[in-house]
Amino acid sequence: MVRTWAKLWREAEKARRRAHAPYSRFFVGAAIECDDGSVISGCNVENASYGLTVCAERNAVGAMVRQGLKPVRVAIVVDHSRPVPPCGMCRQVLAEFAAPGVEVRSRTLDGKELSTTVGELLPWAFGGGFLDAAKRRKRRR
Ligand code: THU
Repeated sequence: MVRTWAKLWREAEKARRRAHAPYSRFFVGAAIECDDGSVISGCNVENASYGLTVCAERNAVGAMVRQGLKPVRVAIVVDHSRPVPPCGMCRQVLAEFAAPGVEVRSRTLDGKELSTTVGELLPWAFGGGFLDAAKRRKRRR
């Protein structure tokens, strides 16, 4: 699906250019192809109160949820010497919505690329299924 990835890279790069990262100067763009074929992107948004920073991937996921869509593939673009993987928080958030087989690719501006899947990024993921079992239990504690 070369055309799809080409579009994802384009959209992720457009988003990267909008990143608000004056503190780290680490500008990240992410793009998600959704189950209806549309592409939704996000950039990292930092804050002077550093801990409030939201990564590009999570901003893209939030916009996707708003549209009522599911992810089919995910692209991440960074201006770095090596492709950058999603952080642990973003892996957990991605796993909430993406099947383990969903492909995640990361790319540098000069075209170095790595490919993996949501399941590889977060094996033995904690998910809502664990909470369902807890809710079914009669005992209070
Ligand atoms: N960041 C992302 O947006 N995505 C990643 O995959 C890794 C890190 C952002 C968060 C912060 O704005 C900056 O990169 C440095 O950590």
